[in-house]
Amino acid sequence: MKYSNGKKYDQQMDNPYVQLWYEMVEHYLRMYLPKSGRVLDAGGGTGEFSIRVANINKNLKIINCDISEEMLEKAQEKFESLELHKRIENKICDIMNLSFENDLFDYVMCLGDAFSFCEDNNQAFDELVRVTKPSGKIHLSVNAFWGNFFGMMAKGPDKKFYFEDVMNYYQTHIIHQNCKSMKCKSFTIEELEELGRKHNLRIIKEFAAPIFTIFGKWLVDAEKLKKIKELQYRHCEDKNLLNFGNHLNIIFEK
Ligand SMILES: C[S@@+](CC[C@H](N)C(=O)[O-])C[C@H]1O[C@@H](n2cnc3c(N)ncnc32)[C@H](O)[C@@H]1O
Repeated sequence: MKYSNGKKYDQQMDNPYVQLWYEMVEHYLRMYLPKSGRVLDAGGGTGEFSIRVANINKNLKIINCDISEEMLEKAQEKFESLELHKRIENKICDIMNLSFENDLFDYVMCLGDAFSFCEDNNQAFDELVRVTKPSGKIHLSVNAFWGNFFGMMAKGPDKKFYFEDVMNYYQTHIIHQNCKSMKCKSFTIEELEELGRKHNLRIIKEFAAPIFTIFGKWLVDAEKLKKIKELQYRHCEDKNLLNFGNHLNIIFEK
């Protein structure tokens, strides 16, 4: 599903919960990004992660691709105002049909549900693997199936998750709200691992970010936020908890 308003998207993301999510993903990007080479931000939208990658390591060349011109326009505005436009290139491109040669990128990331919006996830994954260099990394982040299921069950009609929506979600793994499909698929960690097995990829890291959902007002209290972060980082790789997390992340090596 194509997003159509970059400005509105960035406004929606401007809250402490999303900032915690970005920060946790960045923590792992710092660990696994190469020292030099090419990075693909597939479904990178308004470029939040491309910008973080560019700031982590000045020797990386980054391509931010998306099917939405509107999202890329907003990204371009940000890259120029941060003077990163010479190091990050925007490209209109579908993850399921990437217009790049084989084995081109050292780090391919597909974060913040872009993968979940692809109608054919197997084709999308084949493409992400195809454009990754041997020994390069593929980093996916998607909604966690069980984490969302628990959330939808608990929130119920107050948040427009009707009983039919929850049952549809359970059957299809596609989020439904207000009796409508959101066209966004969730995964279990086992399903992500299976994708990698089909391509003989090695799993190098699994984590959830955030691992548990938090009452919003606690995040604006500096003392509480510090403790929450400690707990998040302590438990975000816990195999017993991963499936109940918020966004599942898996990093493969090709
Ligand atoms: C929730 S946004 C995430 C953006 C960015 N990855 C981030 O985390 O900030 C999902 C993005 O995926 C893009 N998208 C959806 N399907 C796509 C596809 N098949 N190919 C490329 N981009 C796609 C949307 O246009 C949107 O910009």
